[in-house]
Amino acid sequence: MSTVLSARELTRHYTVSQGFLKPQAVVKALNGISFDLSAGKTLAVVGESGCGKSTLARALTLIEEPTAGALVLDGVDVASGSKSDIKAMRSKVQMVFQNPYASLNPRQKIGAQLSEPLLINTNMTAAEREARVKEMMSIVGLRPEHYYRYPHMFSGGQRQRIAIARAMMLKPKIVVADEPTSALDVSIQAQVLNLFMDLQQELGTAYVFVSHNLSVVEHVADDVMVMYLGRAVEVGSKQALYATPLHPYTKALLSATPSIHPEDRKIKIKIHGELPSPLNPPSGCAFHKRCPFAETRCSAEEPLLREVGGHQVACHRAEEIN
Ligand SMILES: Nc1ncnc2c1ncn2[C@@H]1O[C@H](COP(=O)(O)OP(=O)(O)O)[C@@H](O)[C@H]1O
Ligand code: SF4
Ligand SMILES: [Mg+2]
Repeated sequence: MSTVLSARELTRHYTVSQGFLKPQAVVKALNGISFDLSAGKTLAVVGESGCGKSTLARALTLIEEPTAGALVLDGVDVASGSKSDIKAMRSKVQMVFQNPYASLNPRQKIGAQLSEPLLINTNMTAAEREARVKEMMSIVGLRPEHYYRYPHMFSGGQRQRIAIARAMMLKPKIVVADEPTSALDVSIQAQVLNLFMDLQQELGTAYVFVSHNLSVVEHVADDVMVMYLGRAVEVGSKQALYATPLHPYTKALLSATPSIHPEDRKIKIKIHGELPSPLNPPSGCAFHKRCPFAETRCSAEEPLLREVGGHQVACHRAEEIN
């Protein structure tokens, strides 16, 4: 399977002011993430709110430049690329946001908004663009007359279909979707997830699909990466990760998602307390203050991601506790 995107130690830190006369502080929102995304496959990124998922999504699309690390697309490290490398990258990697309304221009008709990527990136005539837009609208389940309507005239689910159509206009190799169904009614979520999967079948697009919800991800993922405080704590195929989660945090996330095979979960793990601040992360394993298996070593030494039982896990005690 060919790799379309590789991230190596991708990092995004934010420098923030702590107030008058106080030194600036560094928020380590994304702290060295590595993965390979295969053509036409879906990597799901999961973790609770604040763990750095949106920061990763913005770094992968270069909406924000990473502060360190490499992002290799078609053999070019675009994280440190030239302006022309980055321009070429933008038509290959597109983003779908959580809130479809915020990502659409309220004063512009849908047809014009969907035509824009074609106007900027191709030499198509106006008639060709209109035909292409209407074709894509039909693929995502919109009707031709919707071409002439404004965003406020659509439901939330339809607006997300519009945002997906816009992301797909240039047939990108990769779409990064940041919680694309979280703002939608539960009854609409499955339809939008199915649309993502149909489009992947039809167009062969690879997805990085971000969600805080493991049951959403179970429908779409091929591989799953679990994040905690800006780092990956477990990475593996969907099958391996759901059947035999190895990291205590993954186990806890699955325990908290009752819809996922509750009969298979022999041990329930509850985590207490809040996600620590990335301004002042705990020493050693960032999860140690919430982990029921923590021992002395855990607060002293940071566990690295390593191969255990066919997937990768960052826990000193992965073998002992499983
Ligand atoms: N522009 C920014 N400036 C400072 N801190 C930020 C900025 N964006 C995000 N953060 C911080 O980075 C961490 C990760 O945020 P985010 O990527 O939005 O997480 P998630 O999408 O998983 O909820 C949070 O602690 C958040 O407050
Ligand atoms: S390294 Fe220690 S604290 Fe961290 S997850 Fe493993 S057992 Fe828990
Ligand atoms: Mg987010």
